[in-house]
Parts: sequence; C-alpha cells; structure tokens
Amino acid sequence: MSTLVIVGSQWGDEGKGKVTDYLAQEADVVVRSQGGNNAGHTILFDGQKFALRSIPSGIFNPNIKNIMANGMVIDPKQALEELHGLEERGIKKYQLFISNRAHIVLPYHAALDGAFEQFKGDKKIGTTKRGIGPAYADKANRIGIRMGEFIEPEVFKEQLKITLEIKNMELRMLGLEEFDFDTVYAEYSEYAKELKPFVCDTALLLEEEIEKNSKILFEGAQGVMLCLDHGTYPYVTSSSPTGASVPLNSGVAPRYITDVLGICKAYTTRVGEGPFPTELDGDLASYIRERGHEYGTVTKRPRRVGYLDCVALNYARRISGINHLALMLFDVLSGLDTLKICYAYELDGKKIETIPATTYDYTRVKPLYIELPGWKEDITHVKSFDELPVAAKNYIRKIEELTKIKVSLFSVGPDRKQTILLEELFK
Ligand code: GDP
Ligand code: IMO
Ligand code: MG
Repeated sequence: MSTLVIVGSQWGDEGKGKVTDYLAQEADVVVRSQGGNNAGHTILFDGQKFALRSIPSGIFNPNIKNIMANGMVIDPKQALEELHGLEERGIKKYQLFISNRAHIVLPYHAALDGAFEQFKGDKKIGTTKRGIGPAYADKANRIGIRMGEFIEPEVFKEQLKITLEIKNMELRMLGLEEFDFDTVYAEYSEYAKELKPFVCDTALLLEEEIEKNSKILFEGAQGVMLCLDHGTYPYVTSSSPTGASVPLNSGVAPRYITDVLGICKAYTTRVGEGPFPTELDGDLASYIRERGHEYGTVTKRPRRVGYLDCVALNYARRISGINHLALMLFDVLSGLDTLKICYAYELDGKKIETIPATTYDYTRVKPLYIELPGWKEDITHVKSFDELPVAAKNYIRKIEELTKIKVSLFSVGPDRKQTILLEELFK
C-alpha cells in the first residue's frame, strides 16, 4: 500500500496541480478531498495548458481513478462545464467518481459569499466569491444538500424546498434578490441527471483500492496557512487543507496516511487579504510577479508576493506532518543579486518561531532574515541538482537546514518535464 498526501504549505497556488500531474504518471488513484472551485490548479504538458478547478489532476490519464471525495463542496454547474471543457479538448476517456456525501454549491451560496464580502468592507477576506464559505456553513448548519440526495429528483426537490426557504429568508434580510424554486430546481435537476453516473460511495472505493495496494495520491487544495482551524483566521478558506484533514474528508483511516509532500514556492505568494509578514512591494515584487506570472488562476487577481517564510513553512510542517518538500517556481528567482529567507519573527521585542493565533499579533510581527547570494543563470533547462549554480544549491540546502525537511523534488518551469525528482516519493 502506498499513499502520498500533497499539501500546499503556504497560502495556496504553490504548484500542487503540477506536482499531482507529475506524480500521477505513477499513481492509480487521485483524490481531491476538500475545497471546491475556489482552487485553480495549472497543468502543462505536451504544449497544452489546463487549469483545473474542482476536477482532480489525474483526469488526463485514462488509467487513473479520480475521486472527488466527501469533504469537497461541488458546484454541479461549474464541474460539468469543466468536464465539457476537457472533453472538447480531447480528454474523453477518464474515470471520475464523485462522493455521494460531498455537498453541492448552489447559486445562492455565491450570492451570499459576495454579499458578506461587501458588508465586511475593508475587513473583507478577499474570497474567490464561489460560494465556498456559505456552502460549508450550510453543511455545518445541517441544511446542506449532498450529491446522494441531489441525484434523486424527489429527494432533491424536498430538500431544496426547505433549504431555499431558509436561504431566501437570509437573502431577504440582506436586501438581496431571492431565488425562485422552480427555476433553480429545473436547471439543477438537469445537472443532477448528468452527474448521476459518477456518484457513488467513494470511501468504499478507496478501501478497495487500499486493499489492492494501489498507489493513491491525495491532491490538496489551498494551503495550510489558509486552514480554517490553523490558518490566519479569519483570512482563511472554509475547509482544512492539512494532511490531518485527508482521512476525515475522504473516508480513509488515519493510519494509511504516512507521507506528506509539502508543496512550496521558492518564495511566497498570497491572494486575498490577511497578514503576510514577508510581503514585498516595488520593483522586486514586480520582478517576481512578472517572472512567475503571479496572477490568480481563478480570479485573475495579481498575487501578493514576498520572500520565502520558513516560520510559516515550519508551522505547515508541524501542523501537517510534512516529511518531504517540493520546491516550486525555483527558476523565477534567477537574476537577483541577493535573496532573503525569513527564519524567525520578532513580536514586541521578542524572537518567535511560530505563527501567532491572532491577526492583531500577526500583523505586528517583523520578519528576521538571513541573506544569501543570488544567481544570474537561467535554470529552466536544468535536469539535475548537480547542474544548478552553487548559489541555487545553497538556497535549497538552507531551506532544508531551516525546516529540517528534505527537498525531494524541485521545479524549474511550469511544464511537466521541468521537474527534477531527487528521491522516489511512492514507496
Ligand atoms: P496550485 O493551485 O497549487 O496548483 O498552483 P497554481 O496552478 O494556481 O499556480 C502555480 C503557477 O505556477 C501555475 O501558473 C503553474 O503553471 C506555475 N508553475 C508551477 N511550477 C512552476 C515552476 O517551477 N516554474 C514556473 N515558472 N512556473 C511554475
Ligand atoms: P489553490 O488550490 C490561493 C483564498 C482566497 C481568499 C481565501 C478565502 O489553487 O491553491 P474562499 O473563496 O476559499 O472562501 O477564499 O482563500 N483561496 C486561495 N488562494 N489558492 C487557492 O486554491 C485558494 N482557495 C482559496 O483568495 O483569500
Ligand atoms: Mg491555484
């Protein structure tokens, strides 16, 4: 049996899609266990670029079973659009399984997401406005609708009646337009029909795969610092993108989760609001943003960029049990005279090495840096660790030293081929 959990170790967009696609060449199963179409996972191979949102990144390989597990919130309309888009581009033979326990996202969720953001004004989270928060809130509030109910026309009708009454009350109170039951039901019943063949008990399927000794990749979405529990609350998403959440959100026993690959940019980015101690501005920020094409896959927003933050990385390691690191977008850093890595923070005159719980404290920390020489060489064609310039090698070694995690893979470009594996990850 071999499982590997892929987690974002920063604030998302670390290159999880690329790594999942790369490792999926060896996998039997790829599982998305949380989040929804707030994610945007970019994959590039054979001159083709894909941006996946809710579909797992193993979809390109017809031999892989792709699972959308119970912890996801799935927008049926968007998921179908995504599938149709893939089919139009020739991805016709795929295996997809959607959990009957996954919750669905309906149009009122996005309306409420947008409205909450507006009401919060300058305290807004900067969400993707895809209704993710309101959908998870309904789940916790036990008025959510799950795939299993959604695909049974009469059950869906009954559930939608109750839920929509509550939601319309909320929308009315907020001065927003209400949703008409017949219109929503008619439109979404059609999506339900189309999705029905994919819906099953995916936890049962996973158990069978585990018994067969299959290689299973768990493709995380978002990143540990966006975790609802351990992230920079309230500037987080509404699920847990940690290794610990994988068993719960996919229905496998925790003992099957042993290896966690943390995906990490060679620097840091963040989309949306919230504290970001190593954030840069000015020319250096622009240099990194343009070289790394740091614009959101989902919302096209320019990503905030900063130096690598090993306090955050160490926190992610601790919370998520990361025991391997994939260092991504390494090529972006070429051309800089010096590089800085944050190894600790200072808060109220004291050195700290963890993430403060409150925004009040976290916005006041000052990053402490070590400075390293940069390198000028283009490294996009590098095929091994040995080919790297000395300064780039030292950068990797310093990260390993500061985090005590081995860099098992590094990436020097968006293409599948621009990946250097330093250690076998599937045992
Ligand atoms: P994800 O959400 O973690 O899957 O990451 P995204 O796909 O949202 O963002 C990562 C971006 O970096 C995408 O545009 C990728 O194509 C790109 N990318 C991934 N790895 C590399 C790399 O090593 N070098 C460069 N230049 N781009 C990369
Ligand atoms: P991937 O999987 C980066 C951020 C949003 C916002 C906060 C809450 O591509 O790494 P939400 O819509 O989830 O309620 O937004 O979380 N966010 C992400 N940032 N990458 C993601 O996914 C993200 N998913 C959500 O920008 O700050
Ligand atoms: Mg992304």
